[in-house]
Amino acid sequence: MCGIIAYVGGRDAQPILLDGLSRLEYRGYDSAGLAVHIPGALSVQKKAGRIAELTKAVARQPVRSTSGISHTRWATHGEPNDINAHPHLDQSGKIALVHNGVVENYQEIKAALSANGHTFHSATDTEVLAHLVGEHYATLGTLSGSSRLVTAVKAALGEVNGTYGIAVIHQDLPDVIVGARRGSPLVLGIGVDEQFLSSDAAALSPYTQKVVYLKDFDVVTLQPSQFDLQTIGEREASYEIRELDIKPEATERGAYPHYMLKEIFEQPAAIRNAMRGRIDKDTGTAHLGGLNLTNEQLRDIRRIIVLGCGTALYSGMVGEQMIETTAHLPVETDFSSEFRYRNTPLDNDTLFLVVSQSGETADTLGALREAQRKGHRVLGICNNVGSTIARESDGGVYMHAGPEIGVAATKSFISQATIFALLSLKLGRMRYLSAAAGHEIIDALEKLPAQVEVILQQSDHIKRIAEKYAHGRSMLFFGRQGNYPIALEGALKMKEITYLHAEGYPSSELKHGVIALIDPNTPSVVIAPHDSLYEKNMSSIQEIKARRGPVICLTTSDCAGADALIKIPSTLELLQPILNVIPLQLLAYHTAVALGRDIDKPRNLAKSVTVE
Ligand code: G6P
Repeated sequence: MCGIIAYVGGRDAQPILLDGLSRLEYRGYDSAGLAVHIPGALSVQKKAGRIAELTKAVARQPVRSTSGISHTRWATHGEPNDINAHPHLDQSGKIALVHNGVVENYQEIKAALSANGHTFHSATDTEVLAHLVGEHYATLGTLSGSSRLVTAVKAALGEVNGTYGIAVIHQDLPDVIVGARRGSPLVLGIGVDEQFLSSDAAALSPYTQKVVYLKDFDVVTLQPSQFDLQTIGEREASYEIRELDIKPEATERGAYPHYMLKEIFEQPAAIRNAMRGRIDKDTGTAHLGGLNLTNEQLRDIRRIIVLGCGTALYSGMVGEQMIETTAHLPVETDFSSEFRYRNTPLDNDTLFLVVSQSGETADTLGALREAQRKGHRVLGICNNVGSTIARESDGGVYMHAGPEIGVAATKSFISQATIFALLSLKLGRMRYLSAAAGHEIIDALEKLPAQVEVILQQSDHIKRIAEKYAHGRSMLFFGRQGNYPIALEGALKMKEITYLHAEGYPSSELKHGVIALIDPNTPSVVIAPHDSLYEKNMSSIQEIKARRGPVICLTTSDCAGADALIKIPSTLELLQPILNVIPLQLLAYHTAVALGRDIDKPRNLAKSVTVE
């Protein structure tokens, strides 16, 4: 949600900023802008629309500079247009600032600054922050050089409620960039005689593999061959330089028309990577070293609460059923955003699992902190190494799925579900699950990647189904037990990238309301593997057909009466949801293509929602 790139060094800044922004575009894409130092002034360009628009504007009037800041926006305050795009300038026009986050008390600050003669041009909270920095800078005439700007930034942030990742420059300090964070991610990239700031480490991978993940209240000053870290408040400044392990090509689209399709096709590898080194064939269990819990501690857990947003929550719902089945442990799932404000009764032996691909989702981070505040241990399941959630969790499991760029999550879901299968295996084997049952799960897990390949080969078949039903009014998704979250995820994918109305329901609930929606223009996708509830799903299909509703059936066997059939390989009932989601991702993808949608950057969404 909003992306920041800043650069100071010896190279031409504008191309680096634009390239970095294009790697961060998944974070927001309604407008973009940059500000670079030129002799005695700042050159600022801002454009509504995609980064391509900014790139065209820069190409018309390129300037040579060796430092600057840039931003791709997902609007919170003020509609997406050139004026509201970042960077924003202060009253003097000499300070430029980009911001990811929300200044909650901006109205109050704006009123005070207006009374002091400040004039504002945009509807954003960010412009107020730029003016506030400028106001402090003006009063600090006794200081000089970078310390004047850092002190002004710190003083301004001391007055701000809310969240921020920012980068700030002053026209008179051509080799200086100041960055700070609270609640929004910001990573320092260390090069040779050049330094970077980015909202996401992956965007820096073509330039450097050395990074520092900034912590809340860190304030960093970048100069070409050095950086200086300070903090706002009491905490002593400290940092750790980490080596990135991201190959630049991992963020390229390659020959695929869209990142989403590439990532769907990366799912066999995502499963293998989530399992690598974590299976113990001798004892029929899983090793998850990062949990930071002894076997005794794991055995003492009496209840698990899984928290996440969107796709991450639905993977948690798949995990809920897996853990309950194998370990007989009660598991609940909740939206992070709801949990953090609810006073849920909790016992000491409750373990929390937070699930987040990005590791930066503000609501999930808020929920994590709330659980920790109440004294609970929180484990994270994250993809983004070094992300805030990964760092603040008491332990956890990395997904190792590689960068996910498509806004609609696909391979991260598969990866999370695989990790839940491993976790359920581990928790089960230390409770009720026999060695034979453990081995059976491992055998089935190892077959999954090849079974996913079989489903992927049906992409063209699913495309034809998608084209037939793409112009309906709405689409319904039904599944039971472990496949209910798959129905929810299938509907979410359809909504996110096609803008069709879609709903996920347990098929058992069909009669209790949703049946009123069935008509010849409303296709129903029924997930009906040949499992313990197969016959019941077949009855649901008949009820839909009796009301002339078209049925797309996903099954491991036959499906009498279905208008379209997608056959999926069969695995254990416990793991079947992992396979069943893949045709639904492809169905959403091909439907969106048929409707001419912008697949990787669907309207109104952002991949990583770092504001509440
Ligand atoms: C946003 C995205 C969803 C994603 C959710 C959780 O809403 O649009 O696709 O599932 O955030 O993201 P996370 O990074 O926490 O998994």
